[in-house]
Amino acid sequence: MWPNERLINLFGIELPIIQAPMAGSAFSDMVVAVSEAGGLGSLACALLSVDQARRELETIRRKTSRPINVNFFCHQLPRGQDAREMKWRRRLEAYYVQMELDHKSAVLSSNRAPFDDKMCDLVLEFQPEVVSFHFGLPDKALLTRVRRAGAKIISSATSVDEARWLEDQGCDAIVAQGYEAGGHRGMFLTDDVSTQVGTMALVPQVVDALKVPVIAAGGIADARGIVAAFALGAVAVQIGTAYLQCPEAQISPIHRQALKNAKDNETAITNVFTGRPARGIVNRLIREVGPMSNLVPEFPLAAAAVAPLRAKSELAGSADFTPLWSGQAARLNRELPAAELTKQLAEETLEKLRFLEVMASQDLLAQAAALATVGSRRVSR
Ligand SMILES: Cc1cc2nc3c(=O)[nH]c(=O)nc-3n(C[C@H](O)[C@H](O)[C@H](O)COP(=O)(O)O)c2cc1C
Repeated sequence: MWPNERLINLFGIELPIIQAPMAGSAFSDMVVAVSEAGGLGSLACALLSVDQARRELETIRRKTSRPINVNFFCHQLPRGQDAREMKWRRRLEAYYVQMELDHKSAVLSSNRAPFDDKMCDLVLEFQPEVVSFHFGLPDKALLTRVRRAGAKIISSATSVDEARWLEDQGCDAIVAQGYEAGGHRGMFLTDDVSTQVGTMALVPQVVDALKVPVIAAGGIADARGIVAAFALGAVAVQIGTAYLQCPEAQISPIHRQALKNAKDNETAITNVFTGRPARGIVNRLIREVGPMSNLVPEFPLAAAAVAPLRAKSELAGSADFTPLWSGQAARLNRELPAAELTKQLAEETLEKLRFLEVMASQDLLAQAAALATVGSRRVSR
C-alpha cells in the first residue's frame, strides 16, 4: 500500500507519519490522538521533570495501547559559563530597564535537562516502543539500558556525517532533519549553521549513505511533501509545525496567532532563546539581538535571562521575547484535530501516489502507442 513499509513494520504502526516530539508544545493528548490514528505519537521530555514525564506516560498508556515514541535531549551540561552569562545579561539589560524588571535579581536556571539515569528508569518502566534523541546520543551505558528496554532507537541527523555516526552507534532509523525544520536543529558534529542542508538535498544523500531506514523531516506539511519524501528515498516523515495548529498543541495564543499569520520567509535560525540554533518566527529579540549572537551562553543557559522578559511581555499580549518555534512551511498548516490531520495526510498522500501511478501508466501506454505507430510505419514502408 505504501511505497516503502520498512518503518511501519519496524515500529508496528499503520501510517508512515511521526508526529515530531515538541518539547513544551505537545503532550499526552497529542500523542494519544496521533498514535490512535495509526501514526506514531511522540512525547518530548526535555522540558518535563521526571514526575511530569511519568504522569504524561501514565495517561498515554492508559488511553492507548498503540506504539509511542518518547524523546529526550542529550546535550552536555555546560560548565564555567558565569562570565558568558554576565555578558548575556548585560546585553539584555536595556530590555530589563525598559520593562521595569530588576536585571540584577537572580535568574532561575533553565530546566532543559539532558537524558539521565532517572529518565532512563522511566523508559524501563513504561517501555515505549521507540525512544528518540536530539543532539546526538546519550553515553553508551544509558544507551545500552534503553536498548535492553526493547525500544527502537532513533536520532536526528543534519548531515551525512551525523547520519553515519548515528548508524555506527546502532540507531535503528535516522531522522534526516533539513534546514527548513522548526525548533532546535539536531546538529551535534558541527555548530556552523551556515552549512546546514535543506531537506530536498539532505534526504537522498543520507539514504544513499545508510543501510538503516531514513525518516524525512523539515518543511513537510501536506501530501505533496510526504510524496516528495518517499520519492527522495525516505520511508516515513516526521512532522512538527503542522501539528502545532491542532487544538491538542499546548502553545500560547500568541504563538498560535503568529503561526496563523506566518509567511514562508518569516522564520530564521536563531540561538538567542536557548544558546543553540533553532528555527522560529522572527520577532523583536531575534531582530535586535540575533538571529545568531556570539554573546549567548551555551545551551540551555541563554533561556534563563530571557524568561523574565518573555513572561512580562506575554502578560502585555506581546510576542517580542517569546520563542515562536516554527518551520518554513507554517503557511500550509490547517486547523484540525491531530487524529484527523494524521488521517487526512495519509489519505491525501495515498491519493496522490495513486494519481502519479495512473499518470505513469498512461504515459507508458502513450509511449507504447507511439512506438507501435513508428514500428508500423517502418513495416509499411
Ligand atoms: C515547537 C517545536 C519543538 C520541537 N522540539 C523538539 C524536541 O523536543 N525534540 C526533538 O527531537 N525535536 C524537536 N523539534 C524538531 C522536530 O523533531 C522536527 O525536526 C521538526 O519539527 C520538523 O520540521 P517541521 O517543523 O517543519 O515539520 C521541535 C520542533 C518544533 C516545531
